[in-house]
Amino acid sequence: MGDATPTVTIGHDMPPELAAEVSTALQRLGVNVEANGASPQRRTGKVIVVISPKGGSGKTAISSNLAVALAQRHPGRVVGVDLDVQFGDLGLALSLTPERTLAQLSRASQIDATTLKLFLTPSKHGLYVLAGADGPVDADSIAHAHVSTVVPLLAENFDYVIVDTPAGLDELTLAAVECASDLLLVSSLDVTSIRSLRTALDALDRMGVTAERRFVLNRADAKVGIDASDAEEAIGMQVSSAVPECREIPLSLNLGTPVVLANPKLPASKRLLALAEAYAPADAERAGKRWRR
Ligand SMILES: Nc1ncnc2c1ncn2[C@@H]1O[C@H](COP(=O)(O)OP(=O)(O)O)[C@@H](O)[C@H]1O
Ligand SMILES: [Mg+2]
Repeated sequence: MGDATPTVTIGHDMPPELAAEVSTALQRLGVNVEANGASPQRRTGKVIVVISPKGGSGKTAISSNLAVALAQRHPGRVVGVDLDVQFGDLGLALSLTPERTLAQLSRASQIDATTLKLFLTPSKHGLYVLAGADGPVDADSIAHAHVSTVVPLLAENFDYVIVDTPAGLDELTLAAVECASDLLLVSSLDVTSIRSLRTALDALDRMGVTAERRFVLNRADAKVGIDASDAEEAIGMQVSSAVPECREIPLSLNLGTPVVLANPKLPASKRLLALAEAYAPADAERAGKRWRR
């Protein structure tokens, strides 16, 4: 049977992001696209979802610092996603007032790489941010499927996708977890924070989540009758990074310049920079790919 639909082949010499965009545009015109006989190979970046069931444990502080620390090393190749769509403040932490949000994107007729690009806010710190929403009502239009579409698209176009989340494990967070290469688990040194993280991990285990896990103990030097080894025992994981109490962290969040940039010599900054190093070893510099705007 003859197939009237035309077919074109995209060569391997075309940069992958360009090939993807050309391929999407051609497919929209009803053209079959082949990449020298195979579907175009797309690299995907790391998707690091920052999780803590308890509010105030330091998710946004850690996400924003990790994102800018990675962007220092890989300018233009990092995107932060604010999935705390009701009350998120990742934009504020990075001194941004985003005009476009995930909520607006969720109401677009179609979500593809080209559309998504228009909804990102560039930051002077060398990264992009996908803001959540203008508030709880606006956030209502964002569903699991939007996150499942958007996060992998971002991972195809950036080396690091850092997802800040709200307290708990809501539907949108779970959608991000399903696309995650890495989970960054955050707890402060208090029994309720540690116990709720353990409960969340049990739920993730039952769901069969296999993303690589790291555990950040925030305010790890607090004198509260328990210490890091108690937390490790309760969580069943070694602490990857122990971030001490640091007065400059709230100050820097308020001023929109994360502490790793404002004062990299502080003990807390050094821990956060080492965390970024764990995700992006300096000697593992990868071939550049960035979105040009
Ligand atoms: N290590 C720390 N030392 C001092 N203050 C911190 C530290 N980590 C976070 N904070 C502050 O604690 C508050 C809650 O942190 P935040 O990152 O907003 O928590 P979450 O996003 O988990 O709700 C913020 O004011 C933040 O600046
Ligand atoms: Mg937060």
